[in-house]
Order: sequence, then structure tokens, then C-alpha cells
Amino acid sequence: MGIKIASVGAYVPDKVLTNEDLESIVETSDEWITTRTGIRERRISEVETTSDLATKAAISALKSEIAEDVDLFITATATPDMFFPSTACLVQSNLKNKRAVAFDVSAACTGFIYALYVADSIMRTKEIERAVVIGAERFSKIIDWNDRTTCILFGDGAGAVVLEKSENECILGFDIGADGSYKDLLRVESIGSNGEYPWYLHMKGNEVFKVAVRTMAGSAKRVLEKTGISSEDIKLLVPHQANYRIIDAVSKRVGIKNDKIFINLDKYGNTSAASIPIALSEAVKSGKVGKGDLVLMVAFGGGFTWGSCVVRL
Ligand code: UT7
Repeated sequence: MGIKIASVGAYVPDKVLTNEDLESIVETSDEWITTRTGIRERRISEVETTSDLATKAAISALKSEIAEDVDLFITATATPDMFFPSTACLVQSNLKNKRAVAFDVSAACTGFIYALYVADSIMRTKEIERAVVIGAERFSKIIDWNDRTTCILFGDGAGAVVLEKSENECILGFDIGADGSYKDLLRVESIGSNGEYPWYLHMKGNEVFKVAVRTMAGSAKRVLEKTGISSEDIKLLVPHQANYRIIDAVSKRVGIKNDKIFINLDKYGNTSAASIPIALSEAVKSGKVGKGDLVLMVAFGGGFTWGSCVVRL
């Protein structure tokens, strides 16, 4: 018995916010944003909530608006509509399912890998045949739009995968972990905090950058070692889409050539937990990867958290 990714899907809101648009909001330039990050535009959700985005991504992956046969919903998000019910419960309800296990996972930009890890573990031990794992975010609501060091980076969107039991093993291994001592470098304050802007994201970008490169590369190398797969055998690297320079440095350290890296951050910016499932969905739907191909996913985020996973599609 194994677990496979049976299908993928994604949804992004229609409104496009370009680098040029940002020039009229903060002191910045398209040239600065493009050369420092690779981002050209991002999507902003004006009315759709995180659970709306998540539901649409799940529908795209399920190819159905009804999901009575799903046994488990997990949503990775740092921007849930509510503290509770969880985003996963709202998605479950939207999809007319009244029985599945449903909960959210909080691991910032690594959330999707964490959620995949949890779903994979539960499916191996419990009678759960079919799971929907979603990464969904509405970071535009936790961004300080006066802070040019962060507001240029993030966007809204959602991606999803459907997991099913299978004869062959397709989820080949994980490397996953966290180090909470980095809590001050990247955070959004909440209840009990005395932050100046309680709900806004705070980031020491430069320091995050350095740890991100080191940690993502280390995690990717460890998962390859654990699974006994060489970097040459990887058909596509699907990294967390935070910054082109981070991805470039990580791929060089791991030994993966440029033409084997999937990048869409130019269109969406950093969509946190949604970035990997959106990228994976686009990679599959564009034919860049297909059945039997080995994909390496690697993420890094607030916590700090990190995670990598090797899958055979
Ligand atoms: O998902 C995981 C979480 N986040 C990340 O992975 C982000 C990691 N960090 C980064 O991607 C990069 O550190 C940034 C893109 C955020 C910043 O790039 P950088 O090359 O590290 O720039 P910097 O912070 O060292 O700033 C360089 C200069 C500064 O001016 P001075 O001090 O040299 O005069 C900044 O004030 O650029 C200035 N600056 C800007 N200028 C124009 C900062 N933000 C902007 C901006 N437009 N938006």
C-alpha cells in the first residue's frame, strides 16, 4: 500500500497588482522589485476569503463541487477566515461533506509540506482512503501596505492536491523540522502580543534570506539522501516561491540545473502556504511533469519551519 497524488488544482483571484501599481503606493520601483526578487505582479483578493480561495482550489483538484467521498481535509494557512471553525471545516461544508476529519495546519510558508506530511501519516495508519490537502492564503490582509520592505513580496491564492491510497508508493519521503528560536525574524502578532501593528507581518528580510537559503538547501539534500534519489533523477524542483535569488542559490547547492526548476513567482509573488501547490498544479497542467516523474518540493517559512518532500507523480 502506498499513497499517491491523484490530482492537483489551483485558484488565484482575478485582481492583478503589478510592480508599477506598487510604485504609486510606496517608494519603490519595478526595477528594484524585479532584480531583488523576480516578482513582477501578484494577485489580490478583494472579496474572496481564504476559505473561498481554498474551496475553489479544492474544486479544481477534485473536478467536482461535491466531495462526499473525501475522508480528510487539511488546509495549511496562516490567514484563516476565523480562529475557528477551521478553514478546512469551511471548505468541507462548501463541498457538501458532512463527515470527514477536517482541520488546519499552521507552519507559515512551509504549511503545505507540513499538511502533506500529516495527511500522509494519517492515511498510513487510519482508514482514510481519500484526502484533500490545501494551501490557501490571503496575505494581502496581514500586510502593512505602508511597509515597502514587505508589501512588494506577497500575494493571495490557493492550491490543492487530492491524495489517494495506491498500489505503488508515490510519496517517497520527507525531511521536516522547525526552530522556534528564530521567532523574531518573521512573525505576525496576535492575541497577547504588544506589537505596534498587531496584525501585520514583520520581517527582517536580509536575515531571513540567509537562513532560508541554508535551511532549504540542507533540507532538500537530506530528503534526497533519505530516499536514495540523486539530484539528477529529479525531473522538477518545485520550491517555495519567495524570491528568485533564494531559489537560485538553493538549486545550485542541491545540484539541480536551471531548466529543472519551476518558477511562477513572477506572476504571483510569495503566496506562503499556497505557493508550492499552485506551482505544482501549474507544472502538471502545463505538461512540465507527468506520470512517473520525480518531483522535489522544498519550503521554508516563519517559525522557522522547513520541509521537503520527494514524490513520484
Ligand atoms: O517566505 C519566506 C519568507 N520571506 C522571505 O523568504 C524573504 C527573504 N528576504 C528577501 O527576499 C530579501 O531580503 C528582500 C527581497 C526582502 C530584500 O532584498 P535585499 O537584497 O535583502 O535588500 P535589503 O533588505 O538589504 O535592502 C537593500 C536596500 C535598503 O536601502 P539601503 O539601506 O541600502 O539604503 C532598503 O531600504 O533596499 C531598500 N529597499 C527598497 N528599495 C526599493 C527595501 N525594500 C525596498 C523596496 N523598494 N521595496
